Amino acid sequence: MTVSDMLFQDDFQANHMSNAEIINNRRVINGYDDGLMQASPLKHPWARDIFKKMQKNNWVAEEVSFQRDYEQWINNELTENEKTAFERALAFASNLDGLLTKTLSELIKPHITSPEVSLAISRQVYEEALHVDSYSCMIEALGFNAEKIYGLYRTDKKLYYKNKQVLSAAAKIATPNFKTGTPETDQLFLEACITNLIFEGIFFYSAFIIFYVLGRHNKMPGSREMIQFINRDEDLHVSLFVNIVNTIKEEQPELWNDQVKRTYSESIKAAVEMEYDWGRSCINDGILGLTPINLKEYLEFIGDMRLTALGLPKIWNSQNPFPWIDEMTQGNMIEVNFFEGKVKEYQTGTLQW
Ligand SMILES: [Fe+2]
Ligand SMILES: [Fe+2]
Repeated sequence: MTVSDMLFQDDFQANHMSNAEIINNRRVINGYDDGLMQASPLKHPWARDIFKKMQKNNWVAEEVSFQRDYEQWINNELTENEKTAFERALAFASNLDGLLTKTLSELIKPHITSPEVSLAISRQVYEEALHVDSYSCMIEALGFNAEKIYGLYRTDKKLYYKNKQVLSAAAKIATPNFKTGTPETDQLFLEACITNLIFEGIFFYSAFIIFYVLGRHNKMPGSREMIQFINRDEDLHVSLFVNIVNTIKEEQPELWNDQVKRTYSESIKAAVEMEYDWGRSCINDGILGLTPINLKEYLEFIGDMRLTALGLPKIWNSQNPFPWIDEMTQGNMIEVNFFEGKVKEYQTGTLQW
């Protein structure tokens, strides 16, 4: 129930609902919500925990220097294959962050009835906007033709179909009158959350690994640093949505039946295959030790992590072929359920923990 449904419509009548009753009625979706964001006391403390961690991750694109990247690019210190991989990774990542800025704020957040969860998503939306801005700063600093990056999907069939798949998955709850509260719509909402998890927790990973592989070879170091900032934000976004899905499961267990579990496992399997297909089109036969074989293993490893986080069985049992990834992500990438991990301290403006 939203503020417009129930508050300030009629003349004053004292409402003696206690804080305890309000908190007891709080749910991630379909809970009591007067719209006034009474975030304390908390029903979903994990959401504030994530919000506080997000606040520690402040950064802006201007902190990153692209000078070396620019010189390397114009002096042809990258091979044609490496340049293609870089441009394609950037094209899809920038498209996807743009889409997320919109879907999170317009499709997901309006149905959240827990103030603390809503606050965390608000911060997440800001971070997606920051990512969109940082890609544009990167494109400008490198002197790229923006049309070639943002508009790649208009000339590249593979990217067109990848974007199309992303958009059609997001569109399921995009109808103007969509409202949670029935078994069908709640199921669709849960599906939208899983879809979001796939976007943020699988579809960025070919791009991330391309920037990291280049960075490991001292190529495009500013871009690598910026992706580290973005990746760190995305890790918390994945944690947020893992917790959202797992809490909805607890609050409405009827939504999580065997049929649904099978469907979501299949969605994650299809997403990993699609991401591999896309990543393969970026790297061709391979760049700097990143090959179609280890890319596939890596994406399967990521897919298994997402399944496990949702309490679903692993599909592939693949190992991480890039143990050095911890140097890039400070070990955070594999920390899916970070509440069990140790708290890391972060100083604003650096990548120190
Ligand atoms: Fe993002
Ligand atoms: Fe995100």
